[in-house]
Amino acid sequence: MMHITSQADLSSYHTFSIESYCDYLVEAHSLEDLIAIYTNPDWEGVPKLPIGTGSNMLFTEHFAGVAVLNRLLGKTVTETDNYFLLEVSAGEDWPQLVEWTIKNDMPGLENLALIPGCAGTAPIQNIGAYGLEFKDVCDYVEYLDLDTLTLQRLSFELCQFGYRDSIFKHQLSGKAIITKVGLKLDKVWVAKTEYGALQKLIVGDVSAPKVFDAVCKVRRSKLPDPTVLGNAGSFFKNPIISNQQFAKLKLSYPNMVGYPAGEQMKVAAGWLIDNAGLKGYSQGGARVHAEQALVIVNFNHATAQDVLAVAWHVRQCVLQKYNIELEHEVRFIGNKEETNLVAIYQGQPNERL
Ligand code: FAD
Ligand code: EPU
Repeated sequence: MMHITSQADLSSYHTFSIESYCDYLVEAHSLEDLIAIYTNPDWEGVPKLPIGTGSNMLFTEHFAGVAVLNRLLGKTVTETDNYFLLEVSAGEDWPQLVEWTIKNDMPGLENLALIPGCAGTAPIQNIGAYGLEFKDVCDYVEYLDLDTLTLQRLSFELCQFGYRDSIFKHQLSGKAIITKVGLKLDKVWVAKTEYGALQKLIVGDVSAPKVFDAVCKVRRSKLPDPTVLGNAGSFFKNPIISNQQFAKLKLSYPNMVGYPAGEQMKVAAGWLIDNAGLKGYSQGGARVHAEQALVIVNFNHATAQDVLAVAWHVRQCVLQKYNIELEHEVRFIGNKEETNLVAIYQGQPNERL
């Protein structure tokens, strides 16, 4: 029997750690549990929300539905001449998995060290850091199709991975519960140390454990620890703008940080926010983090309204100053469904935000 908690406090199930409630909270430990939850006649038509570790979520209101904690565990490794093939259940902890592969001499995931969350959530926004994205190590993603209640498998080519994007945010949004991910680690290991700060930390011959340690060190120096200061990592995505707009902005802001992204330019949102003088800007218990302007922290019993007010102010200032619309990376969970900043402040649903 699955344990169901009514009117559960979600503060310990998401990393902003803001007091917020859902009608029901239930843990799924197996595929059978998931199917039982999604076919429970008492919950027909009741909204359901899968949660990994809640490290990319903000509950903007009471969630009038069933929060489903993904606790599907287990992993296997198969070896071929050229690859380590890992099959990992969705509820496995991502940072622990990365550490385990490094300790067991299966390099390849080290640049994605310390990214909080479950393995099964990693494909949704195609997690990335320090020159590597989930898509670079993904073999396939298995999910429970909620229309047919059958398991489906998408090879990595079909997942439509992009910058903080995948099919799971579009066609399959709300229609799929990821149950497993397949990872493919090339035995011919190539170090990825283009990111400046990593290079400086690696002394002597490069190795996967050294890259792992360097990534952990850089992350610990920049990003706030959610157990100390509630946060959900980068609040906004780095915006992608045209080369023309980039060149024009560069005339006014010669120090602006940007990188080529295909035919366009990706701008460092942290720089835009920082340069607009918004570090430390606060409302109630929420503020723009002083060490990394892309992160909004809960420094003193913030409410979701505090976080939203800071986020809206940042968005509007950046829009006014640079004519760039920031989109939030953090997923907003409303009363019955996902929502976004523009819908909340202007009452207009906007698919892009
Ligand atoms: P949750 O927040 O629990 O869920 C996120 C979304 O996925 C929700 O909409 C949820 O409903 C849905 N979901 C969850 N599980 C499933 C499932 N099994 N099937 C279908 N839908 C599901 N991200 C990066 O890319 N790079 C970083 O460097 C990075 N650094 C971070 C640093 C910090 C300190 C924090 C707090 C976050 C950071 N993030 C980063 C964001 C976060 O780590 C990722 O988004 C992560 O993948 C979220 O995993 P989670 O299990 O906590 O997801
Ligand atoms: N910058 C500033 N001021 C700030 C913050 C950043 O000037 O307050 C400048 C930095 O000096 C640097 C540039 O902006 O020149 C980029 O900063 P950083 O290297 O810290 O990375 P980021 O673009 O802010 C992205 C990801 C992170 C990921 C890091 C490392 C997004 C939205 N964020 O951050 O992912 O860990 O790169 O690869 O793409 C997340 O998604 O939650 C996340 C933390």
